[in-house]
Amino acid sequence: MSDQQIIDSAEPAAVEEAFVIEARALTKKFGEIDAVRGIDLTIPKGRCIGLLGPNGAGKTTTMRMIMGLTRPTSGSVTVLGEEASRLPRSTRARIGLVPQDNNLDPDLSVRQNLEVFGRYYGLLPAEINERVPQLLDFMQLSQRAKSPVMGLSGGMQRRLILARAVIGNPDLIILDEPTTGLDPQARVMIWRQLLVLKNQAKTLLLTTHYMDEAERLCDDIVLIDNGRILDQGTPRELIRRHVKPQVIEIRKPLPRHLPLSQTEDLGDSVLLFVDDAEAVIRGMPAETSFQHRPANLEDVFLRLTGRQLREN
Ligand SMILES: Nc1ncnc2c1ncn2[C@@H]1O[C@H](COP(=O)(O)OP(=O)(O)O)[C@@H](O)[C@H]1O
Ligand SMILES: [Mg+2]
Repeated sequence: MSDQQIIDSAEPAAVEEAFVIEARALTKKFGEIDAVRGIDLTIPKGRCIGLLGPNGAGKTTTMRMIMGLTRPTSGSVTVLGEEASRLPRSTRARIGLVPQDNNLDPDLSVRQNLEVFGRYYGLLPAEINERVPQLLDFMQLSQRAKSPVMGLSGGMQRRLILARAVIGNPDLIILDEPTTGLDPQARVMIWRQLLVLKNQAKTLLLTTHYMDEAERLCDDIVLIDNGRILDQGTPRELIRRHVKPQVIEIRKPLPRHLPLSQTEDLGDSVLLFVDDAEAVIRGMPAETSFQHRPANLEDVFLRLTGRQLREN
């Protein structure tokens, strides 16, 4: 299928959706601020894509353009074969959204929040009655079904928003920082549910600050900063492309005679990227204080931007 066929949504019935999301040269200006400076993104069906970048990188703006909530300054974006800013209701019903900010209805109970969305997605009352208890169970919220939303912890609210996003059994789920600010346990629980959704062949697009988790869940990672894509690929590809496989973090002062071809200075310590960590460690004085680990995505990001991702 040619690009033109995919972009052209004049005959949607005839177009097989090769890409669930297709963004071309997307830009967004807010006054003087270039929030997004030309993003191209194609997301095939059934993939889990992680959009990673520090605060202010342009992740939310990109997602809001994909969701049709913000109009691009230039460029185009189609979702499920339709232009994002003009999604027909039938297409909208196939998309589940988890916005960055909790936007639950505080006056309604947990169960009522789900019921309202079930109706919004066009489910029949019988379907709602079947689906709501299943989702409450799936997100471990059954005990809180009658609680007002205001009384829920942050983790519970995020789980409820995720339940709400999937009540219509969407094909595509877009999640903006589903786990930011949660304690590790709550985070693990959400990521576990995302894995279940992924195994149901849903297409997932998410942003996160947590590289380790993204590395485990996402098929592809898109690293963005300053409104631009720095690089994209599988976590392994990105690591192989940008850093040596082993990292030795050494506390300063550094011993002499280290191979300093690839390093990052962290202030009181230095990351040393090497092919053969054992050999380097054998050559270091016994009193050297160091840690040794495989290279990860966070290292890639640090190499590409000179910044650490977790800035919040
Ligand atoms: N509604 C807005 N008005 C003005 N500036 C905005 C608005 N939304 C985002 N920005 C700016 O655009 C840039 C990208 O923001 P955002 O997309 O929220 O980044 P991220 O989600 O990666 O943290 C930031 O500089 C931010 O301050
Ligand atoms: Mg954001």
